[in-house]
Amino acid sequence: MGTEDLAKAERASDVTFLDGDRRIRRVSEPEPEPRSETAAKQWIDRMRYFLTVDPAGCLVAMDGDEVVGFAISQNRDQLWFLATYGVLPDRQGQGIGKQLMDAVLAHAGDRPGMFSATVHPGATRRYRLAGFMLHPQMRMVGTVDRATLPAVTGLRDGGVEDFDWMNRLDRQLRGAGHGPDHHYLLGANRLVVSHTGGESGYAYIDDRGRAVLLAAANPEIAQQLLWEAFASARGDTLVNCITTANHWAIDVGLAARLDIGQEGYLALRGMPEPAPYLANGRFL
Ligand SMILES: CC(C)(COP(=O)(O)OP(=O)(O)OC[C@H]1O[C@@H](n2cnc3c(N)ncnc32)[C@H](O)[C@@H]1OP(=O)(O)O)[C@@H](O)C(=O)NCCC(=O)NCCS
Repeated sequence: MGTEDLAKAERASDVTFLDGDRRIRRVSEPEPEPRSETAAKQWIDRMRYFLTVDPAGCLVAMDGDEVVGFAISQNRDQLWFLATYGVLPDRQGQGIGKQLMDAVLAHAGDRPGMFSATVHPGATRRYRLAGFMLHPQMRMVGTVDRATLPAVTGLRDGGVEDFDWMNRLDRQLRGAGHGPDHHYLLGANRLVVSHTGGESGYAYIDDRGRAVLLAAANPEIAQQLLWEAFASARGDTLVNCITTANHWAIDVGLAARLDIGQEGYLALRGMPEPAPYLANGRFL
């Protein structure tokens, strides 16, 4: 993929995921909507960023001038991750996805790998056949009962001066630091840290009060960070990417009177389930 492909790849991605979301929608869920103009710009901005950091991991499948598939992956030190992957609905099941997956896995080499997967049957089939372990993910949904919020202590707002120890913590939990991704995440979210000499942790909290990436040295710190996110939540909230090793997050969600749901898989190869850790779907 080159920067000249970004606009077409974004359109292909919107069509592909809208179709996928419609197919897996549960009757209790709202009808999926096409991506907003703002979200489309954010998608292009994020892919442009991936292209600057690790362009060789970003691939598109072309038919003439048309982008019919895309696989955007990145190497960070000794970790490979897949940020997004799709093939246009009317081109699926013809081997294009396999070619894309083989190419991005060649870029990964023998690095351990991780990504957050949809439940699309073609996707899960592809991932397992590529040797990934599929860890079912839970999610917590609902409105935080503010009467349950505890007094949270020991946290402060973080900044670039925290990135060194945050990268060390990342390495302990998932084998590689987020490196440049920390700068990208800090540009769009509030960073809250617990770093008082001994054990530490951090969470990025978005403008709706959702913890979009959380890492901690122990479950107690992780729970404090999640409570901090809940305290800033407005309206319905969501905690994503909770694997079974992260029931500490389920316990906080239940205490705040959220409901447990299930959504997709954390696909891992060559590495154990990170914990206490809530992955970010795009930066892992
Ligand atoms: C996942 C995806 C990229 C795979 O692309 P693709 O071109 O369909 O992949 P391939 O044809 O190479 O392989 C898919 C495999 O699953 C099978 N498959 C494809 N669609 C399927 C479906 N709807 N139901 C069941 N099996 C399906 C294919 O037969 C093939 O298996 P085989 O090689 O053993 O015959 C594509 O299906 C897609 O874009 N899905 C929607 C978006 C999505 O969920 N992306 C994953 C994000 S984590």
